[in-house]
Amino acid sequence: MTSPLVLCDVRDVAEGTALEVEAGDLLLAVFNVDGTFHVTDNNCTHGPGLLSEGNLDGTVVECDFHGGQFDIRTGAVVGPPCVVPVKTYPAVIDGGKVVIYTE
Ligand code: FES
Repeated sequence: MTSPLVLCDVRDVAEGTALEVEAGDLLLAVFNVDGTFHVTDNNCTHGPGLLSEGNLDGTVVECDFHGGQFDIRTGAVVGPPCVVPVKTYPAVIDGGKVVIYTE
């Protein structure tokens, strides 16, 4: 059983940027890449970095702590020193809101 979790308004996240959102038990990063929204856990899998504070280049975010890189579409690691993928959440836009569905 999944339930919708409304994260933010689409206008809250400018293109090419990310927003930290706390939702329930989750700390998330909401990214806007050319009007397409991607959602990941905000905590870097390598250490204390927050991906919402990283540098976004297309669909790759570079953690500003040690420079590890993730593809925000899949969560895959694309640059060291990270080795563990970051969790992603399929995002839908509903009534101008960014929404994910969680268990
Ligand atoms: S904490 Fe993110 S790369 Fe180390």
